[in-house]
Amino acid sequence: MTRAQAPGKVILLGEHSVVYGRPAIAVPVTEVRATAVATDARASPGVTVRAEDIGRTIDVAAAPSDEPLSVTVRNTLAFAGVSLDEVRIDLAVRSTIPVASGLGSGAAVSTAIVRALSRHLGLFLEAASVSSLVYETEKIHHGTPSGIDNTVVAYERPVYFCGRDVEIFEVGQPIWLAIADTGVPSLTRETVADVRAAWEHDTEAYEELFDEIGGLVTESRAAISSGDTRALGSLMDRNQGLLCELDVSSPDLEALIEAAKHAGALGAKLSGGGRGGNAIAVVEPQGAERVRDALRAAGARNVIVTEVK
Ligand code: PMV
Repeated sequence: MTRAQAPGKVILLGEHSVVYGRPAIAVPVTEVRATAVATDARASPGVTVRAEDIGRTIDVAAAPSDEPLSVTVRNTLAFAGVSLDEVRIDLAVRSTIPVASGLGSGAAVSTAIVRALSRHLGLFLEAASVSSLVYETEKIHHGTPSGIDNTVVAYERPVYFCGRDVEIFEVGQPIWLAIADTGVPSLTRETVADVRAAWEHDTEAYEELFDEIGGLVTESRAAISSGDTRALGSLMDRNQGLLCELDVSSPDLEALIEAAKHAGALGAKLSGGGRGGNAIAVVEPQGAERVRDALRAAGARNVIVTEVK
């Protein structure tokens, strides 16, 4: 039996503009995770994936070519140079990461599968290989993914991501985040497509907005490295203003952002695709509970407080 896990993630700054080659920063969230367990329990050759949370069982050989869990399995087997009829593997998959909420559930499930399956086959993959295998599945989930989700989840470290450049970087002082779920599912594929349509319509204005966001991300990286959480908070506020201009915020997100700020958060914004999913707030450790309570009172379905180190 081989068991592997992968964490959730949030994007701190730079969502959407990262799709257009600007930088973004993402951090792992270890309070939620996906788990995959591989056993040699199948009676006949092949691989079965049992997505236990949703009660789905998938026979990889019979699955459609765009079924994400099967694609992850097929690509991992191909990478390992093993064919489906050489194995008899049962893969049980579970996740505590809410779906369609910007916490990287798809990337985490794929990462857990890649890790469990490859280790079960005796292969120990580096984070870069895990990330590129997961990226193939992300294309099915998101259409034109920037690659940030697979990167942060596979490396399990804060990442500064810019196109092909991935930099794992040090956090000067722990950052405390409150992550609040609107409870409104939102498909990243859709918000990304809407931003693309708007960008096509008014490329110059959107390129300017993306540049501005990129500038905030670069400044944030310096603020994080030097441990200036206060500066990070105000950069996140400015990023939120620009995300509103991209039209990916929503009244639910705004209500949570407002509540967090009112309760003393140093900065707050949406995280991920937007129009639903999660808002994040950077908080002082001693103020975290107050912000958590305020977010709950403002209607958050769930609040995770996490320390990024
Ligand atoms: O919704 P999430 O957390 O999967 O993040 C999507 C981030 C985008 O920049 C909107 C899209 C992408 O591929 O980077």
